[in-house]
Amino acid sequence: MLLAVGAAWAAPPDGVSSVRFDAGSRVFRMDAAGVTYAFGVNDRQELQTLYWGGRLQESDGFVAAKAGHGVASFEAPANATQQEFSGWGEGLYSEPALKVSFADGNRDLVLHYVSHEVERDGVVVTLKDISRDVFVELHYSMDASTGVLGRSAVILNRTKAPVMIEQAAAASWNLPVGSDYRLRYLSGRWAAEWTLNEQKIAPGKTVLESRRGSTGHQNSPWFAIERGDAKDEDTGEVWFGALAWSGSWSISVEQDQLRQVRVTGGFNPFDFGYRLAPGERLTTPVFYGGYSQDGIDGASRLLHRFEVTRILPQAPHPRPRPVLYNSWEATGFAVNEAGQVALAEKAASIGVERFVMDDGWFGQRKNDHAGLGDWYVNKQKFPNGLKPLIDKVHGLGMDFGLWVEPEMVNPDSDLYRKHPEWVLNFPGRPHTELRNQLVLNLARSDVRDYVLGFLDDLLKQNDIAFLKWDYNRNWAEPGWDAAATEDQKKVYVTYVENLYGILRELRARHPKVEIESCSGGGGRVDLGIMLLTDEVWTSDNTDPFDRLTIQDGFSYAYTPGVMMAWVTDSPNWVNQRTTSLEYRFLSSMQGGLGVGANLGTWSPEDFAVAKEMIAAYKEVRETVQHGDLYRLISPEGGSEASATESVSVDKRQAVVFAFLHSSQKGYPFPTVKLRGLDAAGQYRLRPIHGAKAEAAPEVASGASWMSRGLDVVLRGDFQAAGFVLEEASR
Ligand code: DGJ
Repeated sequence: MLLAVGAAWAAPPDGVSSVRFDAGSRVFRMDAAGVTYAFGVNDRQELQTLYWGGRLQESDGFVAAKAGHGVASFEAPANATQQEFSGWGEGLYSEPALKVSFADGNRDLVLHYVSHEVERDGVVVTLKDISRDVFVELHYSMDASTGVLGRSAVILNRTKAPVMIEQAAAASWNLPVGSDYRLRYLSGRWAAEWTLNEQKIAPGKTVLESRRGSTGHQNSPWFAIERGDAKDEDTGEVWFGALAWSGSWSISVEQDQLRQVRVTGGFNPFDFGYRLAPGERLTTPVFYGGYSQDGIDGASRLLHRFEVTRILPQAPHPRPRPVLYNSWEATGFAVNEAGQVALAEKAASIGVERFVMDDGWFGQRKNDHAGLGDWYVNKQKFPNGLKPLIDKVHGLGMDFGLWVEPEMVNPDSDLYRKHPEWVLNFPGRPHTELRNQLVLNLARSDVRDYVLGFLDDLLKQNDIAFLKWDYNRNWAEPGWDAAATEDQKKVYVTYVENLYGILRELRARHPKVEIESCSGGGGRVDLGIMLLTDEVWTSDNTDPFDRLTIQDGFSYAYTPGVMMAWVTDSPNWVNQRTTSLEYRFLSSMQGGLGVGANLGTWSPEDFAVAKEMIAAYKEVRETVQHGDLYRLISPEGGSEASATESVSVDKRQAVVFAFLHSSQKGYPFPTVKLRGLDAAGQYRLRPIHGAKAEAAPEVASGASWMSRGLDVVLRGDFQAAGFVLEEASR
């Protein structure tokens, strides 16, 4: 497809992504950072992928796209072409991007190029069915500093009758033809999120998805595809993508009969149905995609950079996460003013910056059987409201955060007694309760207004800096009985749009309030919710050893800058594993640090250790949260040891965390070779809390730390060490 000499592309200025269209060949070309993406209009008028990979030269041109041809007379021609966005029609057997039913029974949809408009950082290409006035606008934008592409589709019905959309993806990503690809993806469940999986891409299809109404724990809407068998984390081609959607979603990865590899993602087609009346439109989520030649580690660094600088609400310079205290593991539902004040005093004494009161403060909430929906302060627990506690917390120099679970209701609540019709349900069918609660149907405008209203009041009436927004069940019986029968399945889209609308509106009305996305741990983490929330709760599993793999898996898709990690009590409730306070701190310091232990049981020594660790963390948190992450020794696969390194953007600071699971046969800890430093710089080594390294010079060059490495002294079980390298000179 490449020509030595082709269209004369004018070079884009530095730091700007460029989008160009060559009218002669009808080729679109986008370039930014290390990436070039090209597609064209082929001789069948389909939009066809031409290239996605490393940045090409300006002198490199493309010949006009030419539709592929199959090898068997059985195959309809549509299957032989790598289409950017295919309609289901004319015998397409692969995953379509769009499938519709027309009112007259026709279900054939063939999308051809009509027009386009080039914008500053992107292009909008319009496709249309060959005979009916169904239009699709494909939106492309490319981030100048990472080359990450954002793709979405707007489907418009300009016919005179309703059209039922049965399947709608944001985009299809086509890879160069090959049979040597490997797929990485994340799976999990409650208290065991973010398991990294790897498999060969073979003929057939793998579907990553959630049918649960929200993002879910089971899979994360992220993929990475590597070429070849290279296990080297830092070299080799990687294509990756992340879907920005917090409802039911699907990403299918397929290799077809012609060995074309394609990733298609968007709304989950299962039980999907969105009726578009004449003149209406449906906008899909954005599917982001990136490319790196620096292996899976390089791919995740690129994605982290993109999330930090383009996705998070405070992008491009998000405020580092404050060190927080959370009451959940200490008190459960048994919160009250005196108990919280006592915890707050202790938390402040070790350097905590944000005090968060978790579940239990509202309605008749004694346990998880009652109270959700009744967002008034429980007078038995807080006779004078929240103000005395909040004032106390402020007086101690911390800001105040509060737990809410706005989308849920317990049947035992005033709200449910008043509005039983507000929950997702199929009339006359059982209501499946999970954690004794039902899901409010946020797709209803009255429910949306109620949720926005009580949250707005809560924030107006109290000086709250932070909401922990929880969501503790999956959907069952996803009915929206108040809507017309043909519109009831819109619940999958409208619910999430209203959720985003509430978050957007709250942020606009209360710009200083930060929000955490929590869903029974990490059940709602995706780039859609990250656009509107400042951090996420990674997992309810706070066992510091389990956390090493949980956090490692998380980091493939999401930045440590949003990954909250608490130091809790030992033995930990999950595994009954006993670990030292130092180990627990070092494990939690790999993300946004929190403390969730029962401080009432701590010894003076514990307070002294915690104070020192929190002070050390504050010196490195900008690097840990927003720097570049290098996985030096992986904790995956039952590994005996693991180590990570974070390097600040200016390379002046690096932080190393090393963990030993279990000493075996007296072998020393493997030499840790650092990465990403300035080779010529001189770096001074500083241990965190007495960590030891064998024969380590105090100051050495970046080259030395990267080539000779660091011999960490660790013996025993569940041992950990942390080191900081500061650049002494340049
Ligand atoms: C689930 C969360 O993940 C926990 O941290 C805690 O907030 C509980 N919900 C409270 O019910």
